Amino acid sequence: MTNDAQPRTQWLGRWGFVLAATGSAVGLGNIWKFPYITGEYGGGAFVLVYLACILAVGVPVMMTEIAFGRRGRGSPIDAIRRVAGESGASPVWSLLGWMAMLCGFMILSFYVVVAGWSFAYLWKMLSGGLAGSSVDEMAAIFGANNESPLNLGFWSTLVTVATMAIVGKGVQAGIEKSVSWMMPGMVVMLAILIGYGAFSGGFVEALRFLFTFDAGSLSSEGMLAALGHAFFTLSLASGAILTYGSYLPGRASIARTTLSVAVADTVVALMAGLAIFPVIFANGMEPASGPGLIFMSLPLAFQAMPLGTLFGILFFVMLSMAALTSSISMVEATVSWLTDNKGISRRTASWGTGIVLWLISTLAMLSFNVGAEWTLAGKHFFGWLDYLTSRWMMPLGGLGMVLLAGFVLKNEAFREELGLSPAWHALWLFMVRYVSPLGILLIFVDALGIARV
Ligand code: PFF
Ligand code: NA
Repeated sequence: MTNDAQPRTQWLGRWGFVLAATGSAVGLGNIWKFPYITGEYGGGAFVLVYLACILAVGVPVMMTEIAFGRRGRGSPIDAIRRVAGESGASPVWSLLGWMAMLCGFMILSFYVVVAGWSFAYLWKMLSGGLAGSSVDEMAAIFGANNESPLNLGFWSTLVTVATMAIVGKGVQAGIEKSVSWMMPGMVVMLAILIGYGAFSGGFVEALRFLFTFDAGSLSSEGMLAALGHAFFTLSLASGAILTYGSYLPGRASIARTTLSVAVADTVVALMAGLAIFPVIFANGMEPASGPGLIFMSLPLAFQAMPLGTLFGILFFVMLSMAALTSSISMVEATVSWLTDNKGISRRTASWGTGIVLWLISTLAMLSFNVGAEWTLAGKHFFGWLDYLTSRWMMPLGGLGMVLLAGFVLKNEAFREELGLSPAWHALWLFMVRYVSPLGILLIFVDALGIARV
């Protein structure tokens, strides 16, 4: 629908961008991934590095991305090329946009599988299929759900279709409406779960696990995971935030919106941790149980609470919708690039993208059953998609963007877009020039074993 003759679509309401960007940020990353990787990397030290990465890298990168999007008014590829061109910089920088678009697509290919778990569990809650009462029974239910490619494929296909249907409808109608009531609902649900966790015995242990910093307990691998997760959880360097920024009205404050998105995302992640780890500890489960962690632990908590089935249903409804408000943001870059450049309608672009996505996500889905043995260096296909995007593509893409904005492009463009006071602008510039790049580089150098920091 967008073409060169018309001005680019913009968010309708004053809160459109904040809600959509928060919807993109808050998702499976907070509720599914954050608890399970925190469990894998041992807790407090990981959380501390993650929080530092959000502040020192995530916030500056997000501001930069939104500024690129709004100034360039296009998909990541077009926006970066335009903004670079304005400063006389090489169009080769738009490769950063290509990588971001590819990255969003790769993430979505495994994200729909996890979102499919959420939908499957919602169905189980509704139909009484989660009536196990022991840790072992919960693990068996999770395993059984993965065993059949037809079952798992049904749910991930459903998520793919839902995602493409919403994106196909357009920027304003689908996204903007839904996020405004789903986000508050999710916070309320998590608060209730934390309330439950506080009385279930494991709460103090959970607090200690999440917030006690045990120096030296974090590996280089864990630091890279924390950095990668900061990108993942804020939807950075994957085209999502940049493309949403391209619909941002000129008057909105980029710094203020960035801060609210980052704060909301962090609060939800910590709330999820506080809801889940008490259950883990109270039931003697292993924090490092991997990707199945929330699906094996939370249903146990629901069963023990009064009206647990009702809360369980609400929780999986919320989780599924949180997943959808994120998944739609991952393809928006591709769909907007296709409609802007290939002269096809948004609908055609969405369904075409959906077909390719379905093929790749089907391969990812098979990693949990028939393709479990299709591994390379010990990782199956699902694992590779996650590993390549979080550990490499997102941090490197973010590094490219801050270096481009900080050193290559004319400062005037960012001064205008960000509209900050001179002191705050100087702080942003200092962050994108030195703090964020050095943070990313140090963690990489450390992880590659070139030098132990
Ligand atoms: N931020 C989302 C989450 O935490 O679940 C995941 C995500 C969304 C990553 C959009 C990348 C992206 F472009
Ligand atoms: Na997130």
